[in-house]
Amino acid sequence: MKFENSLAFAQELDQQDPLASFRSRFHFPTFHNENPVYFTGNSLGLQPKTAATYIQEELNAWANYGVEGHFLAKRPWFSYHENLTNMAAKVVGALPIEVVITHSLTTNLHLLMVSFYRPSGKRVKILCEEKAFPSDQYALASQISFHGLPAETLVEVGPRPGEHLIREEDILQKISELGDELALVMIGGVNYYSGQYFDLQKITAAGHAVGAVVGFDLAHAAGNVNLALHNWNVDFAAWCGYKYLNSSPGGVSGLFVHERHAHNKSLPRFAGWWGHNKEVRFQMEPGFDPIPGAEGWQLSNAPVLGMAAHLASLEIFEEAGMERIAQKRDQMTAFLAFLIEDVSVRNEEKCSFEIITPTNPNQRGAQLSILAKGQGKQLFDRLTDLGVIADWREPNVIRIAPAPLYNSYQDCFRFAQYLERAIL
Ligand SMILES: Cc1ncc(COP(=O)(O)O)c(C=O)c1O
Repeated sequence: MKFENSLAFAQELDQQDPLASFRSRFHFPTFHNENPVYFTGNSLGLQPKTAATYIQEELNAWANYGVEGHFLAKRPWFSYHENLTNMAAKVVGALPIEVVITHSLTTNLHLLMVSFYRPSGKRVKILCEEKAFPSDQYALASQISFHGLPAETLVEVGPRPGEHLIREEDILQKISELGDELALVMIGGVNYYSGQYFDLQKITAAGHAVGAVVGFDLAHAAGNVNLALHNWNVDFAAWCGYKYLNSSPGGVSGLFVHERHAHNKSLPRFAGWWGHNKEVRFQMEPGFDPIPGAEGWQLSNAPVLGMAAHLASLEIFEEAGMERIAQKRDQMTAFLAFLIEDVSVRNEEKCSFEIITPTNPNQRGAQLSILAKGQGKQLFDRLTDLGVIADWREPNVIRIAPAPLYNSYQDCFRFAQYLERAIL
């Protein structure tokens, strides 16, 4: 499609947008501007209006039934998470047995690494991307030291000098180079800083080819990019519910374990009663018998209020459908990139903007990371004052993410207008 930098063009795209009506299902924060451009769905997604209804239902059940809400609530609490499984599995391209909504992201990554990072003999190394999200760096380093191994056990692949993105060929090359020393590949599916979406299928195949286990942190991928975890044979994955999945700050997260591990009761794991055989859980007998599949990694009974928010959001995803979401994501992100480049070219003398996120739609989701050359934080502060809610990373990167469910093409147009106005 040939884009134009005009309000009329953006309005036309909004009129043709089959998902346009979903915008009204979300609360937009108006604390500093009546009509903000909210481009931080990659950090915290907006609140679905139905979240309050669903949370209130559980508060009412708690008030009316007390402990009996576990069985008498409209959605009984003892099995509340089961309401989420099928919808969450669709979002990540998995079978229901492979997915459970539970705990938080870093907790899940640790629990999964307890099972799937089993260093032995010379096969001890973990491969991850350079500058992985700090929580992942800490998690990986602490897993390594937990096994009594030295820090060099963690091997990172980074961009080549002078480049911003990691070349996939370099990841694949490193995997084959490490060969039988490689125990685990654990990479962020979409890089939080650059927005680069790696080829998870190829990475998984390469890891398996050398005998390694392959897992992904999908915090920036779930609800954003097209995923087919089952078909790609990924061993395990975890993601959070509060970014593109709009399910409340610190809300419940997702955990994936491939079907081929579902019945392997000998996998070591940290256990808790919620992962124990449901038929006999309340008999409170000793001896842990894991539920087959991802549910067997649950530790504790479900935090129902957080899950209610997730239910509200997943229902919206179900209705909109990942296919339509993906189509809008690609078109809207391309439109936004076109507008930013247009502003950049016309203002070259004062400031230019380089989008470091890949241009190929198969290698990115909704996020664009913009390098502001010539102007720094001041430009970002002016953008904020004009009504843009975006994200700044030192020394000079602005991260923006138009979320297809609630952002409009006119948001993109207004962002470009404000960006131009913010240039000093
Ligand atoms: C890529 C990535 N990994 C891990 C985390 C940590 O998530 P949590 O605090 O939910 O454990 C985040 C949080 O933003 C993230 O973006």
